[in-house]
Amino acid sequence: MAGVPSTLPDGDPVPPDGSLPDQAYAGMAGRSLSIYLHVPFCTTRCGYCDFNTYTAGELGSSASPESWLDAALTEIDLAAQVLAASNTRRPVQTVFVGGGTPSLLGAAKLTTLLHAVRNAFGLAPDAEVTTEANPESTDPDLLGALHGAGYTRVSLGMQSIAPHVLAVLERRHTPGRALQAAGWARDAGFEHVSLDLIYGTPGETDSDFEGSLRAAIDAGVDHVSAYSLIVEPGTRLARQVRAGQLAAPSDDVLADRYVTADSLLDDAGLHWYEVSNWAASPADRCRHNQAYWTGGDWWGIGPGAHSHVGGVRWWNVKHPARYAAALSGGRSPGHAREVLDDAARRSERILLELRLVTGLDLSLLSDAGRRQAEREAADGLLDPDALAAGRAVLTRAGRLLADGIALRLMD
Ligand SMILES: C[S@@+](CC[C@H](N)C(=O)[O-])C[C@H]1O[C@@H](n2cnc3c(N)ncnc32)[C@H](O)[C@@H]1O
Ligand code: SF4
Repeated sequence: MAGVPSTLPDGDPVPPDGSLPDQAYAGMAGRSLSIYLHVPFCTTRCGYCDFNTYTAGELGSSASPESWLDAALTEIDLAAQVLAASNTRRPVQTVFVGGGTPSLLGAAKLTTLLHAVRNAFGLAPDAEVTTEANPESTDPDLLGALHGAGYTRVSLGMQSIAPHVLAVLERRHTPGRALQAAGWARDAGFEHVSLDLIYGTPGETDSDFEGSLRAAIDAGVDHVSAYSLIVEPGTRLARQVRAGQLAAPSDDVLADRYVTADSLLDDAGLHWYEVSNWAASPADRCRHNQAYWTGGDWWGIGPGAHSHVGGVRWWNVKHPARYAAALSGGRSPGHAREVLDDAARRSERILLELRLVTGLDLSLLSDAGRRQAEREAADGLLDPDALAAGRAVLTRAGRLLADGIALRLMD
């Protein structure tokens, strides 16, 4: 998922001009560049969601889509200046507008953003340009305008087809609205349309989830993401679970749902390429997320957005008002940063690459790690043929335990 979690860790300070340490520039020409833009607005907050997003009532007069856009345009210019210090001109390969609810911005602001990215960095001719959209705030006019402006991909939050599941999730749209929006997106000319599903919501039955999968498949999209419901601390959902009003999803149910998702999607021609993501063909995989998972550089624009350039990671201040104040005062909105050492970069690669269908190159592992990989294959969690060819690739059973396996391989 491309969103921004709402809690921010501490780290080293980011200089006011946003400049990067030398190590970020080393080898830059060989890495792809992506831009993430975080839109921190939602009409209402879904009870399970912990992303850095605000309703108009929560923001009052402290921030608005207009003040956010001014600040985001200023950060785009700052990013272009900082990256220009390398004398390496790299057109942007992927852009992802996420949230929050980007569709709430409307076509004019989303078009302005994309033009600004194109002017500041240059956009590769075949760039992937995605926007997330909430079905409720999406219509044929918006989708037509975005396609005309150069957006190439839409990712819609469907979550479920069952009305009582949407009610527990506090989603405001009707069950059919996401499917209708997917049809509008295709009619507008979008080749790439993705639907997000959530499974394991309290009260969801096996057949509810199967119904959601079949509806997503029948919508004819080329990409589906399916996430197990995470009960995030501090959310209304967490309070309801703690008060005993809702039951937390059980691990066994979540595992069964995952197996159902993988077998139904696979039968329908949507194949896994990351533990929670399925696509009709390699060309339909989300290139932006793949850049995150394979060590590309990305600059995250917006409140609370995270960035990663050449082993340097930083994250912006969270509140839209503080974000805008930093930029209008001529300062980087960076809250803190960390420079990853070799051990941290290796651990991160093991965690991320193991989740991919392409798997992990065994040369990343120590001798002990490779012996552990043999044991995981004997337990049915890694594919033995891939292992013999030098890669650790999860089996379906292994995908249920991906993070634990990655930790054991890190020895
Ligand atoms: C930023 S939202 C998508 C766009 C839009 N805001 C919407 O909700 O329709 C990204 C996705 O993250 C997933 N998500 C958010 N919070 C989650 C949670 N606590 N557990 C599982 N998935 C979650 C949802 O599937 C959601 O569609
Ligand atoms: S609409 Fe999307 S981002 Fe907004 S609260 Fe709901 S899940 Fe979170």
